[in-house]
Amino acid sequence: MELPYAEPYRIKMTEAIRTSTRKERERWIKDANYNLFMLPSEYVFIDLITDSGTGSQSDRQWSAMMLGDESYAGASSFYNLKNIVEKLFGFKYMLPTHQGRAAENVLFSALIKEGDVIPGNSHFDTTKGHIEYRRARAIDCTIDEAFDTQIEHPFKGNVNVAKLDAVLTEFGPERVPFVCLTVTNNTAGGQPVSMENIREVSKVCKKHGVPLLFDSARFAENAYFIRMREKGFEDKTIKQIVAGMYKHADMMTISAKKDGAVNIGGFAAMHDAELYRRASTFNIMFEGFLTYGGMSGRDMNALAVGLDENTEFEQLDARVRQVEYLGARLDEFGIPYQRPAGGHAIFVDAYKVLPNVPREEFVAQTLCIELYLEAGVRGVEIGALLADRDPVTRENRFPALELTRLAIPRRSYTNNHMDVVAVALKNIYDRRETITRGYKITAEAPIMRHFTVELEKA
Ligand code: F0G
Repeated sequence: MELPYAEPYRIKMTEAIRTSTRKERERWIKDANYNLFMLPSEYVFIDLITDSGTGSQSDRQWSAMMLGDESYAGASSFYNLKNIVEKLFGFKYMLPTHQGRAAENVLFSALIKEGDVIPGNSHFDTTKGHIEYRRARAIDCTIDEAFDTQIEHPFKGNVNVAKLDAVLTEFGPERVPFVCLTVTNNTAGGQPVSMENIREVSKVCKKHGVPLLFDSARFAENAYFIRMREKGFEDKTIKQIVAGMYKHADMMTISAKKDGAVNIGGFAAMHDAELYRRASTFNIMFEGFLTYGGMSGRDMNALAVGLDENTEFEQLDARVRQVEYLGARLDEFGIPYQRPAGGHAIFVDAYKVLPNVPREEFVAQTLCIELYLEAGVRGVEIGALLADRDPVTRENRFPALELTRLAIPRRSYTNNHMDVVAVALKNIYDRRETITRGYKITAEAPIMRHFTVELEKA
C-alpha cells in the first residue's frame, strides 16, 4: 500500500483558540457593524481572513531572531537579507520596508505621476490604492478565463498579452511608468502566472521600452505551480524557477508576510542604481534609514531564513496541498469556487452560493457573515466592498465576481479545521433558498473602505 502524505514538519508550540455560540456571534458581529475586520480575534474560532503575517515561523527563524543586529546603520541583519535577495531574485539594490504597501509607497513615489496608467493582472487593492491616490489609473489585463470560476485553466493569473500590447501602444512609455505583474494573482484567486506568459509580458514591455515590476507577495507559490503545471520545469528546483522568473523583472515590491514566512516585513528591490537613489529618499522619509527601513534587525534575520526555507519544494508542497484539501472537501458538497484551487486560498463563488441575495447588497460579504455566524470562521470579501467606488464617478463598482476568500495561514491549522470550514459552508449552501437579503452601507471611508466600512441588514 502506498503511504499517505504527511507534512514535512512537526509542531513545537500551540496557541489556544476559543469556540463560541451562535448567539454570542450574532451579538459580536452586530457590534462590529457587520464588518469582520472590526471583530476582536478572540471572537473568531478559525481565522482565514488572511495568510498575511499569520503563519507559524520555523525554529530556525525564531533562533535567527535572537541573533538580530539592532544597529541603526549597517546591521548584519540587513546584509543577511540583502544577500538572500540578491541570490534568489538577482537584485543588487534593496530597500527594507515594514510591509508590502510600504514598499509600494516608497517605489511608486519615485515612479508614478498624475495621469499615468499602470497595466497589470488584477492589481491588489493596496497597489491600486497607491496608484489611484497618485491620480493615476490601474488597468486590468488579466485573461478572460480568470473571470469564469468554473473554467479549469492552469494559469488563470496570466496577462492577456494582446490587451497589454494595446494599452502600451495607446499610452506609450511617457504615460506608463511600469507594468505590474502580480505573482500569484491574488485577486483572481491566488492563481499563478506561467513562465511562458512572464516571457511574453517581458517581451512586450521591452518592445515599448517600459520596465516590468513584479508584485511578489506569493512568488514562491507561483514558482511551485510552474514546476507542477508547466512543461519543462518538473526537474527544476523552486530556487531555479524563481531565478528564471525574476530574470525578466526590472524591479519588485514584496509583502514578505506571505511567502517570506514572517509576521511583518517587506522590501522593494531593483537593478537600476538611479532608481534606487531616488527611492532611497522616500524610504528614509516614510520608513527608516536604508539598512532597516521599517524592520527591526530580528525581523530582517527571520525574513532572510524564511525566504531561504520557503523556496524549498517540501514546504510549498505541504502548503498548497492543504488548500487543495479544502477545495476537495468543497467539491464533495458541490460548493462552487474559483477553479482550480489557488496557492494560498479558496475563493468561494458567492453569486452561486447565495443566488437570491441582490447584487447591490454585497453578496460575498453576506456569505462571510453567514460563515461567521455558522461556525466562527472568518473569511474576507473580495467583491463590491473591496472594489470600492470609481475614483472619477464615485459610483459603486460591481466586479464580475463576488468571492468569499478563505486564506489559509501557513503551518497554523490542521485539516480538521478545514473540515469544519467545509461543513459550515455546506450547511449554508443547503439553506441558500432562505437567504434572500444582504447588507447596506451606513458609513465608509473615501478610499480602501472595506477595512472600516459599517453595514446594517438590508
Ligand atoms: N500585493 C499583494 C499581491 C498582496 O496580496 C498584498 C497583501 C500586498 C501587495 C500588500 O502587502 O499587506 O504587506 O502591505 N495582501 C494581504 C492579503 C493583505 O490578505 O491578501 P501588505
